[in-house]
Amino acid sequence: MSDPATLSVRDNRTGRDYELPITDGTIRAADLGQIRVDEDEPGLALYDPGFVNTASCRSAITFIDGEKGILEYRGYPIEQLAEKSTFLEVAYLLIHGSLPSKTEFDNWVHEITYHTFVHENVKSFMQGFRYDAHPMGMLMASVGALSTFYPDARNIADAENRHMQMVRLIAKMPTLGAWAFRHAQGKPYIYPDNELSYTENFLSMLFKMSEQKFGADERLVRALDVLFILHADHEQNCSTNAVRSVGSSQVDPYSAVAAGVGALFGPLHGGANEAVLRMLRRIGKKENIPSFIEGVKNGNEKLMGFGHRVYKNYDPRATIIKKACDDVFEVTGVNPLLEIAQELEKIALEDEYFVKRKLYPNVDFYSGLIYEAFQFPPEMFTVMFAIGRTPGWLAQWLELVQDPEQKIARPKQIYTGERRLDFTPSSERWA
Ligand code: CMC
Repeated sequence: MSDPATLSVRDNRTGRDYELPITDGTIRAADLGQIRVDEDEPGLALYDPGFVNTASCRSAITFIDGEKGILEYRGYPIEQLAEKSTFLEVAYLLIHGSLPSKTEFDNWVHEITYHTFVHENVKSFMQGFRYDAHPMGMLMASVGALSTFYPDARNIADAENRHMQMVRLIAKMPTLGAWAFRHAQGKPYIYPDNELSYTENFLSMLFKMSEQKFGADERLVRALDVLFILHADHEQNCSTNAVRSVGSSQVDPYSAVAAGVGALFGPLHGGANEAVLRMLRRIGKKENIPSFIEGVKNGNEKLMGFGHRVYKNYDPRATIIKKACDDVFEVTGVNPLLEIAQELEKIALEDEYFVKRKLYPNVDFYSGLIYEAFQFPPEMFTVMFAIGRTPGWLAQWLELVQDPEQKIARPKQIYTGERRLDFTPSSERWA
């Protein structure tokens, strides 16, 4: 009998047998390389567009069980963190791997608070964007631009240096995000207020006008903090994969995180909450829902905010967000689109099309409604996601750069193009 922790493979092309070791429920793709018909032919490879069944790393940061709807950061259930922790404590947990002592936490909050300011030239740089620039484009560009302000960030081998850049990124993201928002509104940029909490300071930079001191309703501050916690990490999603992939070239973390912001911008990823709001507006009233659902089932469009690559039962973040919706609407009044969203959810959850495909509301289905209650325009929704996701991107980046097994990301391809064509110069082709 063969070793139980191996996979026996017979290559029917050659009749040869192979034993491939199984570790942690995986085989090494590189081990397939020995399976070949001819010595001078490339060995067997995996074809996996979208990485639907390929592990790219070992990670101790976030655990997800998509079937059971479980999400844990460093082993702590998301429900407990959302109820009892704060965003900065969760950021510490993700990056450092354990909860902080009182002194560690105080130092961490102090460091983040005192790095919220950006160089004045960043301000002039942002002012150069067109009046209607999308805030995610502005955020992506300005995060990337930070690498030119901190050239020492390229020294990624130095632990203290890495820590400094991570603090800067977490601290400055709200400043950049808020300024992108003010830019679109033609309002002056507001400097950070170091006396406010992380989340309240962000609201201040977004909404402060001529008042001496900005103050927000505590329930709103808490709801936003919870939203940041829910978005803080989600293991190897598209944007984290982008951060890891770009980071694997050993570039500085600003450049790697800028790639993450770019990936998050897309409507199938973080851009979905913006798409949900636009979809709800387009549906307009409950009576239009059945024809909309028919359109989705006929493949004309997607029900945005539904479905997930990993969660095939429910998205635990969606459940917590629904509760946060109630808290926010208590302060702001109910968003009329909520009624449409709830009816849409009810119908979709009973409809065979969605049930069969295990399509449930994801984190973005309700988050847009909360953001709208804060009076953010839809273009800002993904910026909120990016601010929340920053500690996760950084924790993943840190794990990557310390992992001796990691290599520069370089997938294979199956070449389908022409070969060995004879080149005719343009002078002859166009004659
Ligand atoms: N509406 C209608 N049909 C859908 C939807 C949807 N939202 N999502 C998936 N399907 C169908 C899809 O057409 C396919 O049907 P069929 O088997 O007949 O071809 C089946 O369900 C399986 O879908 P898939 O595209 O193979 O699933 P995936 O794992 O590749 O995609 C997804 C996951 C999230 C990209 C997709 O569900 C989707 O596009 N959802 C809408 C966008 C969205 O809400 N994205 C936010 C994701 S959560 C936040 C984040 O992590 O960024």
